[in-house]
Amino acid sequence: MSPFLFITDLDGTLVGDPVALARLNHCLARHRDRYGTILVYSTGRSPTRYDQLTREVALLEPDVRVLAVGTEIYTGKSSTPDPAWVEHLNQGWERHQVAAIAARYPELTPQPASEQLLYKLSYCVEPEEGDRLLPLLQSAFQQAGLAVQVVYSSGVDLDLLPRHGNKGAAVQFLQQMFQMPPERTVVCGDSGNDLAMYEHAEAKGIIVGNAKPELITWHHHHPSSDRFLADRPCAGGILQGLHHFGFLDPTLND
Ligand code: GLC
Ligand code: MG
Repeated sequence: MSPFLFITDLDGTLVGDPVALARLNHCLARHRDRYGTILVYSTGRSPTRYDQLTREVALLEPDVRVLAVGTEIYTGKSSTPDPAWVEHLNQGWERHQVAAIAARYPELTPQPASEQLLYKLSYCVEPEEGDRLLPLLQSAFQQAGLAVQVVYSSGVDLDLLPRHGNKGAAVQFLQQMFQMPPERTVVCGDSGNDLAMYEHAEAKGIIVGNAKPELITWHHHHPSSDRFLADRPCAGGILQGLHHFGFLDPTLND
């Protein structure tokens, strides 16, 4: 076996089935010890909400944390975001202007202060409003000459991100950092903010069985042999996918 770059979302993907998570943790810890596999968490959560989760759930210590929907990358135990990535995101990002335009839409309810970050503005939207609002926002930003990504997840969370930052762009950055090719990279997710990992990054993709409709619909419209839709939920689906792509030793009873 050889090392791979394992990148997973947390809520609804790695986290959600504690029994399966314990099994997956065991496999990943062993693979990391034996072969040097790299473990990355990529979540929409801010540092505050990430720390909260680590107190609630038994997670392995990752090699890299990609937080705030790909806009903050922390390597090792560092509490300072990777400066090269920050510089990359900064290009063309006008946070105040983006916030001012968003404020014109009363349907957007700002999320708590902890989720408003330097390179991410986040709101809640009623499920029936999201699909109508999305194109309106996109054209408002375009008219203002602002390159903004609008990411809609789980029929409720709406994130506004810089043009250069999302979970998919972060995958490419990490592939370069660890010199890991697409066929040794695997990404796992369950909702809209994971889409960029499948769409914009070259990697093997696992979609867990409990994935949200927005991701499943996209998957059915863009079939690929590099993507696996699991039938099991959360960590159990990840295990299925890792076996499907041959990342884990089939002779070991995982
Ligand atoms: C996490 C973040 C939230 C974001 C959502 C979707 O829940 O805390 O701010 O909107 O992910 O990306
Ligand atoms: Mg998720």
